Amino acid sequence: MSDVMHFEVENGIAIVTIDSPPVNALSQAVRQGITDGFQQAWARDDVQAIVLICGGRTFFAGADISEFGKPLQGPDLLSVLDGIENGSKLTIAAIHGNALGGGLELALHCHYRIAVPSAKLGLPEVHLGLLPGAGGTQRLPRIVGVPAALDLMTSGRPIGAREALSVGVIDALAEEGKLRDDAVAYARRLLDEGATLTRVRDRDDKVAPYRNKPEIYDDFRRQHARGFRGFKAPENIIKAIQAAADLPFDQGIQRERELFVELRDSKESAAQRYAFFAERETAKVPGLPKDTPVLPVTSVGVIGAGTMGGGITMNFLNIGMPVTLVEASQEALDRGIGVIRRNYETSARKGKLTNEQVEKRMALITPSLDYAALAGADLVIEAVFESMAIKKEVFARLDKIAKPGAILASNTSFLDLDEIAATTSRPENVIGLHFFSPANVMRLLEVVRGQKTAPAVINTAMQLAKKIGKVPVLAGVCDGFIANRAMRTRGVQADALVLEGVAPADIDRVIYAYGFAMGPFQMTDLVGLDVIGRDSTEKTVRSELVKRGRLGQKQGGGYYDYDENRRPTPSPVATEVIREVAAEKGIAPRTADDAEILARLLYPVVNEGAKILEEGIAIRASDIDVALMMGYNWPVYTGGPMFWAETVGLANIVAKLKELESRYGAAFKPAALLEQLAASGKGFRDA
Ligand code: 3HC
Ligand code: NAI
Repeated sequence: MSDVMHFEVENGIAIVTIDSPPVNALSQAVRQGITDGFQQAWARDDVQAIVLICGGRTFFAGADISEFGKPLQGPDLLSVLDGIENGSKLTIAAIHGNALGGGLELALHCHYRIAVPSAKLGLPEVHLGLLPGAGGTQRLPRIVGVPAALDLMTSGRPIGAREALSVGVIDALAEEGKLRDDAVAYARRLLDEGATLTRVRDRDDKVAPYRNKPEIYDDFRRQHARGFRGFKAPENIIKAIQAAADLPFDQGIQRERELFVELRDSKESAAQRYAFFAERETAKVPGLPKDTPVLPVTSVGVIGAGTMGGGITMNFLNIGMPVTLVEASQEALDRGIGVIRRNYETSARKGKLTNEQVEKRMALITPSLDYAALAGADLVIEAVFESMAIKKEVFARLDKIAKPGAILASNTSFLDLDEIAATTSRPENVIGLHFFSPANVMRLLEVVRGQKTAPAVINTAMQLAKKIGKVPVLAGVCDGFIANRAMRTRGVQADALVLEGVAPADIDRVIYAYGFAMGPFQMTDLVGLDVIGRDSTEKTVRSELVKRGRLGQKQGGGYYDYDENRRPTPSPVATEVIREVAAEKGIAPRTADDAEILARLLYPVVNEGAKILEEGIAIRASDIDVALMMGYNWPVYTGGPMFWAETVGLANIVAKLKELESRYGAAFKPAALLEQLAASGKGFRDA
């Protein structure tokens, strides 16, 4: 008997219940529990069928990822699943919540499956850099066919129970809230009908049409080349599914195993598994007592309906929360609301929202030109121009109007939150909520705690972030907080390299090859040279290009020229401007190979990350990684700059930084923390 398993028999049907919070991951204890339950059921003459069901909020959410990389403690998952599939008694998986990864694979080893309508089923291993390694790549195609299997396993997209029923992944629907009883009744019915002990592995009809057709997989690879770039798992998934169609089952399983082990031991999967836990870690704030209150937030005010204010507003409308939107002029207000409406209407056209849902969301906006309209809001988020003078004025006005206890938040990117808070009589209620653009899409939310921000205000912001689907990363006050501060160092080096004679296209190429969707100059051209970067009187390549009317893709080209299809070619004008500015600054041309370019661009980001950590701006290194992966699309399969730095070796990074420091000066001086960790052979986790 085990702690996580409950066994009972009802009218000839054994019910094996597993309850291992929070998500019934298939840990050693759970595998043991399942084994114990089934052994009892198989041994008893009065048991004719077995229902496998879970307690708590979900069916098995997959293998226990935290066990990966540790020595296996039996029973191993594959033997447990084999036992169920080949067991002598009819077995039914009864599914609620999520049946994911190994959880769905387990269900596919049962002879029948029943689920409540709200259940979700999927094979999300791809997100962890893995493939479904417990027979999923061989069994799912035998139910849904090759094209659907390719789609489901390379996207990791879960499907709802109704869709699962229609494609044959489950055999019956239970009534919501009545899973146990309906599963037992279903078992009884199957017994009465003399149902066979069907094994998915024995089916061939759905894979036979795709046998020996390599072109299907090549087409699929071509179609998805962009999305799969840099990831290892999609390719191995495709190969495993091809094996399911082409090989006898046992050989297919063997192929799946080889491809799984290759992924499990890859650096990409290690990074993606790290990212999974890192994302969940960010919400944990040391020093906040467990009983810290969460303040009620049921209405929100947003000041400024520009690029950010509009996106921020949408986050709240999406969860049904009313938003009072305040602007400086009717024109700006109308424009902002128009953009929100257009965004929703685009979603409706794509079938993601109904027209009714669009109208419902729009109706939650109360537009106003009067700050007094914000008097009732529990939370007010300021998103006006990035100017200290304007922000101070806004907060001083807000202080007079907002109700006692309201949270006053700023979306500032770089400004000193404490200075803003000091203009109010309640700095303890002031916090930074730094969204990333587009604010309705990007999942990162930097929650900036000021010197005086109250624990309850921090706690509330962290919880609220989750409610609106964001991943909150807590930051302290400094210029640029975490993501912008760290990434700015890359921008500085990119500009410096260009002045030293490295072509923008070479820099972009190296950054793209590393895994970013585009390089810094392509990005600048896309966003607009007049938008990127802060005001400065210094003569730069960018300011000179702007002077010549080169604002990027939108006007005149930028670092590149563009043809009518927006295809870039290096710009002779930009080359001339670069030469001119470099000559004026007396910078002699140098050459740099790709490795040197990469180190110049990315080691400073790691170094800045170390400073952010040692100054206590970020709680932990993994928070910095999450901020950059989610705020700047830093490639997930590297694990973010700090994780990646450890794979490069901190000692190697420090040595290179010192070399660069000797050539280029203090910008490359290694952070004390980095030197210390490198010298003692430790990692950021020990910091
Ligand atoms: N292993 C270990 N821990 C897991 C886990 C897993 N598979 N899935 C979730 N957890 C942990 C989380 O780390 C978190 O721990 P914490 O509370 O200490 O931070 C806790 O469970 C709750 O998770 P969430 O905060 O994510 O809870 P949600 O309710 O938001 O989401 C979920 C639940 C949808 C199940 C989500 O946790 C999830 O997507 N989990 C991963 C599912 C997955 O990828 N499964 C495949 C695993 S690999 C596999 O099965 C290989 C096989 O093919 C051989
Ligand atoms: P924006 O220029 O698009 O919008 C600002 C809006 O504020 C304008 O519509 C303006 O009319 C309004 N406004 C100005 N003063 C006002 C006042 N006193 N009362 C009411 N409304 C007023 O600017 P954007 O890009 O939305 O930026 C807003 C803030 O968000 C800035 O602090 C910026 O640094 C920050 N931010 C911007 C990001 C971006 O990518 N654009 C990313 C993250 C933060």
